[in-house]
Amino acid sequence: MRAIQIVTTRLSSCLRPIRFEFLSSSSSPRLFSNPRRLICTAAATKSDGGRSGSIVAPLVENEEEVQKIDVNPPKGTRDFAPDDMRLRNWLFNHFKEVSRLFGYEEVDYPVLETEALFIRKAGEEIRDQLYCFEDRGNRRVALRPELTPSLARLVIQKGKSVSLPLKWFAIGQCWRYERMTRGRRREHYQWNMDIIGVPQVTAEAELISAIVSFFKRIGITASDVGFKVSSRKVLQEMLRKYGVPENLFGRVCIIIDKIEKIPIDEIKKELGSTGISEDAIEQLLQVLSVKSLDDLEDVLGGAGEAIADLKQLFSLAEKFGYSEWIQFDASVVRGLAYYTGIVFEGFDRKGNLRAICGGGRYDRLLPTYGGDDIPACGFGFGDAVIVELLKEKNLLPELGQEVENIVCALEKDLQGAAATVATALRSKGQTVDLVLESKPLKWVFKRAARINARRLILVGKTEWEDGSVSVKVLSSGEQFQVKLNDLE
Ligand code: HAM
Repeated sequence: MRAIQIVTTRLSSCLRPIRFEFLSSSSSPRLFSNPRRLICTAAATKSDGGRSGSIVAPLVENEEEVQKIDVNPPKGTRDFAPDDMRLRNWLFNHFKEVSRLFGYEEVDYPVLETEALFIRKAGEEIRDQLYCFEDRGNRRVALRPELTPSLARLVIQKGKSVSLPLKWFAIGQCWRYERMTRGRRREHYQWNMDIIGVPQVTAEAELISAIVSFFKRIGITASDVGFKVSSRKVLQEMLRKYGVPENLFGRVCIIIDKIEKIPIDEIKKELGSTGISEDAIEQLLQVLSVKSLDDLEDVLGGAGEAIADLKQLFSLAEKFGYSEWIQFDASVVRGLAYYTGIVFEGFDRKGNLRAICGGGRYDRLLPTYGGDDIPACGFGFGDAVIVELLKEKNLLPELGQEVENIVCALEKDLQGAAATVATALRSKGQTVDLVLESKPLKWVFKRAARINARRLILVGKTEWEDGSVSVKVLSSGEQFQVKLNDLE
């Protein structure tokens, strides 16, 4: 592979004299026999304090010099060409519109965070999937695998300057070094809605209502998807009953979350290694198979918080109008250590896909980062599984490019006039595709069809001399002349 190396001073020292040199990094005799040098006016000296670095720039000498690249994005990541971008925008607009309808404010955080923000001791899978590295200043940093820790960080940072409750939403890219399966990627976007400062189950109930609204907007029904709901307090009450120390709670939840992924004997072994008795393990596993609130009440007794919270959630679901979407399932625990109460996951009823979305209450996350003891709950909804589901249900929208007008000069020397027309229309809020080269009308009509233009505006000599243009309505074929000032 042959390439030309540019040795240069840092651009930050641009105001100082700079010396650029092209040097060959290969041992190509031809290149060496023809060394190319570009020397800018004065040379930078070391005393400038400017640091030197080098970049490899493919300088094409002739065709042989082409350095072929892999045109695919890195494994597990995606490009968003215009078609994909239209779908993404369509999806995100629904996320945004639902959040707006519920009165949530949009926030965002950096994709790069300090690694420590994501390090929890409970043995979560997400920890092993972290894209982390040391930056040039020797700081341990990570690409965020989720948004919740950043949200907690920002809430703590804002402190008393914000008034509770906060209702925030965000749409952000997350990175996880995952084993790739359908709908699971190494990079995905997540829509999050979170409520900070409400301890009551009304918060969880509203969050689920928001997701249901979203599903309905995009044509997904309660017969396509549902929510499995449980509470981590179920496990907490069981652990308390068997005298298991509170500090093991997070770890036990993470082990139990793996039930469908690893053999049950392995789960028992892992639970045993935390010090939980065999009897307690058996009871725990039994309670996880419970699928109705009545049965749960038989196991736990009617007095605990778990039952009370869940009953309230189901009662609120009725009032919000989404009872048919939710069901109790004690096996839902979730794979993140910080959840403390109600947890829920959206699933496809055919069972072909991984979780569509998930969330729950995390009342202890802020204090674990040194913040105040503020209750919180929220959910994350990925952009990948939902697209798989829409494909499966034939519900993907048809989204073409949409530009209202195409403006074209009929003669080369009228291109300036066409630019004036385009500017006038754009200033009135109309979208315009301006034909920038001399093209035959056939080409212009084809392009108009491809971009779904509503009108073709032709700038011809005679009309323009009169301050007018020709407007053709493409759906009806109707054509008329309009003065530029009257063009709306
Ligand atoms: P999570 O269950 O890890 O929760 O992720 C939430 C959602 O993000 C998943 O249900 C899925 O839609 C999507 N997702 C996660 N990983 C991937 C992946 N590798 N590829 C594609 N999609 C993925 C959380 O992240 C919590 N922070 C959610 C939350 C917000 N809880 C409270 N507030």
